[in-house]
Amino acid sequence: MQIIKNIEELRSIIREWRKEGFSVGLVPTMGYLHEGHKSLIVKAVSENDRVVVSDFVNPTQFGVNEDLSSYPRDIDRDAALCQKAGASLIFHPEPEEMYFKDNCTFVDMDSLTKGLCGRTRPTHFRGVCTVVSKLFHIVTPDRAYFGEKDAQQLAVIRRMVRDLNFAITIVGCPIVREPDGLAMSSRNTYLNKEERKAALILHKSLVIGEEMMKAGERDAAAVKEAITANIESEPLARIDYVEIVDAETLENTARIERSVLTAAAVYIGSTRLIDNFTFQPQG
Ligand code: PAJ
Repeated sequence: MQIIKNIEELRSIIREWRKEGFSVGLVPTMGYLHEGHKSLIVKAVSENDRVVVSDFVNPTQFGVNEDLSSYPRDIDRDAALCQKAGASLIFHPEPEEMYFKDNCTFVDMDSLTKGLCGRTRPTHFRGVCTVVSKLFHIVTPDRAYFGEKDAQQLAVIRRMVRDLNFAITIVGCPIVREPDGLAMSSRNTYLNKEERKAALILHKSLVIGEEMMKAGERDAAAVKEAITANIESEPLARIDYVEIVDAETLENTARIERSVLTAAAVYIGSTRLIDNFTFQPQG
């Protein structure tokens, strides 16, 4: 598995691929890869001749008191997983390769980024949009793959691609879970044994909300209340938010009449976990 750290070197490889007429898929990640990431890579491999996995803990998307320095890293393990999944190469730049010291250009978005995770992480999506734009310019993929686990991120990227006319197809991929239901995340490694058990409350509570919608409940407040009360029954959990929003605009919705995204962020101890589901009412 080739690990490329240099932008120009990567560009010349991609130029060679293009000469051969190969299509290119991109899977952006921050590394410490798990089965969730792998599902994106496998999908990309099935749809493209060559697949680049970027493995870069992007400093601009972390807030000042967030976990940038402690974010888990293991490039050797990542390389083995990428190889197994059939990726062509890993792009693993140093922060200095990606950002000039005096970088002063960012990609920002007015709506979609203010609610949900954006409320407590006000600069997060500016960092995500900036690094993903840079990766799109460097790799020039035909398709790029993102997980529904980060539903707001996926909606933001789709909007950015539309608004800035990137000629790239965005492919959303379903959430991959542990056998007990916990959504896979690189941050799950922060959880101790007791917290790992407590973390299950997030998915379990969302399932309760989903069952209510399936049974015909259309009042968003009632569903939100049930989810919130269930999460609060777990002493180790502290809610950041539970929201029900329009799946496309991410605006709050009182009635469940169109496709809605129910998303939650919960601290288990000091670890912040997110999860969600999308529900489309029939008829
Ligand atoms: P990271 O958290 O490493 O996630 C990389 C991609 O894997 C994202 O698209 C994310 O939604 C997807 N993913 C993570 N866990 C998943 C799971 N359990 N099931 C399905 N997909 C999952 O998201 C980022 O990195 C960064 O913000 C990035 C887009 C790379 C920009 O820096």
